[in-house]
Amino acid sequence: MLEGRNISKYFGGLAALKNVYFKVTKGVIKGLIGPNGAGKTTLFNVIMGVYKPDSGVIKFKGENIIGLKTNQICKRGIGRTFQIVKPFKDLSVWDNVTMGVLFGRRNPPGVKEARDEALMILDFMGLKGKREVLAKNLTLADKKSLEIARALATKPEILLLDEVVAGLNPTETINMIKRIKRIRDELGITILIVEHVMRAVMEISDEIMVLHHGEKIAEGEPCEITRDERVIEAYLGEKYIF
Ligand SMILES: Nc1ncnc2c1ncn2[C@@H]1O[C@H](COP(=O)(O)OP(=O)(O)OP(=O)(O)O)[C@@H](O)[C@H]1O
Ligand SMILES: [Mg+2]
Repeated sequence: MLEGRNISKYFGGLAALKNVYFKVTKGVIKGLIGPNGAGKTTLFNVIMGVYKPDSGVIKFKGENIIGLKTNQICKRGIGRTFQIVKPFKDLSVWDNVTMGVLFGRRNPPGVKEARDEALMILDFMGLKGKREVLAKNLTLADKKSLEIARALATKPEILLLDEVVAGLNPTETINMIKRIKRIRDELGITILIVEHVMRAVMEISDEIMVLHHGEKIAEGEPCEITRDERVIEAYLGEKYIF
């Protein structure tokens, strides 16, 4: 579904991404992990057209998407959330998601239908009861759910989730993990998820790729990744050795 070859992105002399190859197969939940500054969010930004890579090609469903604008990429079917949540703070939860339906799709419905669809998405994400609350007044967990709801509103075929579990308490974490699985299982949306909470990423992912200093150092099933010496040294530490 989504494939990148030789992706490099420099910020001045700093290589945030160095010749990265990645592939996300339709229907999987793929984890993207690595230490702070490894290049994970930069990869999302390159996929979404926020940054043009200095080299490489990214194909979505077989078509090159490099050079397209973020809104065009969104309308083709790639949704994303932001590591630092970016709701329309002074709009209600319901209006936030309605915006996604109205402005994130190639063929948006009318306003009434958009509001109805937004409500269904809010129900799915457990936010229906808070639909009239202003986004700025939500808890962090609800803000993260809203971030996902607004991305879902754009009808993505693939969803890029950037640290939607980090910062949640244990109960919220369990609920978020369940919801992410339901997005794939019930809505059929492919997922690429960046996450530092290892419990979540190991439980949720079919496969994982690891970035370190902008380079891919490992890729495989969760159990392989936890045994990979380079990954243990660069990121996981001894506690993950079985
Ligand atoms: N717009 C920018 N300008 C300059 N440097 C940047 C920019 N964006 C990212 N960087 C640098 O690129 C590197 C990769 O950053 P990135 O945000 O992709 O890391 P990350 O893997 O998402 O880290 P974290 O886990 O902390 O979110 C870092 O060294 C960062 O400081
Ligand atoms: Mg990041």
